[in-house]
Amino acid sequence: MSFDPDKWTVSSNDALQISLAEPQGAFSFRPAFTYPVFGDSEQIFGYKDLKIALAFDCAALFPFLSVTYSSKLENHDDIIDVQAKLLEFLPKETIISDENKWLDVVEADKFEIPGTKIKTYHRGDEEFSIYKSTLSEASKLHLRIRIFVLLFIEAASYIDETDPVWEIYLVYKTSGEKPSFVGFSTVYSYWYFESMEKHDLVALKNDVLDLKIRKKISQFVILPPYQQKGHGRELYSGMVEQFLQDDQVLEICVEDPSEQFDDLRDRCDLERLYREGVFSEENDFTSGLDVSAWIKKVISKTKLEKRQFARLVEMAMLKNEF
Ligand code: ACO
Repeated sequence: MSFDPDKWTVSSNDALQISLAEPQGAFSFRPAFTYPVFGDSEQIFGYKDLKIALAFDCAALFPFLSVTYSSKLENHDDIIDVQAKLLEFLPKETIISDENKWLDVVEADKFEIPGTKIKTYHRGDEEFSIYKSTLSEASKLHLRIRIFVLLFIEAASYIDETDPVWEIYLVYKTSGEKPSFVGFSTVYSYWYFESMEKHDLVALKNDVLDLKIRKKISQFVILPPYQQKGHGRELYSGMVEQFLQDDQVLEICVEDPSEQFDDLRDRCDLERLYREGVFSEENDFTSGLDVSAWIKKVISKTKLEKRQFARLVEMAMLKNEF
């Protein structure tokens, strides 16, 4: 057999095709990254015509994996078992190669979107809904969808799903024959330490600590076919709305936001500040305003991080509107 390494090497980003099967047909898309699975070079060596099909049904996201190739180099140390490698990142229930079995399982499954519906919105005549759930309530679904975090967020890793503090927000298209998954976000609640005085005062007065929390948006993914259609914005705003209504939450922050996510967050936050009149003419910024009291007041009302608020103020100043 001739041995030309180039002919036996394929880009793992090109070889992997992800599909979502809806009742009226499947749609497919490619991953943004595969290095967490196949290594930094994102190349797979030792196969010809390698095709990795990773399919999910659109509602329960029950996974199916099929790896095919026309030939494979034998007796070579550098050749990975593609199927076994990918299965390390997928739930144990993943059905391999037997498509009919997968279709039967999907058909028999009585799936219901976990959690509580918090928002509904429309794009054209299609309806979309956002659900909020604890991670434990959505654990089965989370184990199926968490691979999207590795495939679409740079430098992402799996979260500890056994920690009960995680919550998950899910976006589904809900106007079709069957709900169809659009994206999700995971959020962690950290204890917010206000000050020693407040901490001790609350502890002394009530016996029970009225703990305040900081919500950290950890992972946020909208699947490629749905990107650039306003779903990210709807999900982010829906989540922020929930945090604003929760008296325990003092601050909303984001873990390692990507440039794209920063964009989305800045636009949504800035619009919110304008909507709430934060930069209105009533605030006389040229004289007489106690700036530090104003910052404190706005931050506590909007639950923005200080750094994010400073960025937004700078953007508003550049816009030259206040
Ligand atoms: N039609 C056309 N365009 C629209 C519409 C619409 N109806 N509504 C909004 N848009 C525009 C927005 O104005 C925005 O424009 P801009 O790029 O010029 O700012 C753009 O579409 C994106 O906004 P959304 O559509 O709301 O965002 P999207 O749904 O694409 O989600 C996200 C953005 C989350 C970054 C998504 O692209 C994604 O999942 N990317 C891959 C993973 C990722 O990077 N996740 C974030 C990592 S950071 C973290 O996890 C904390």
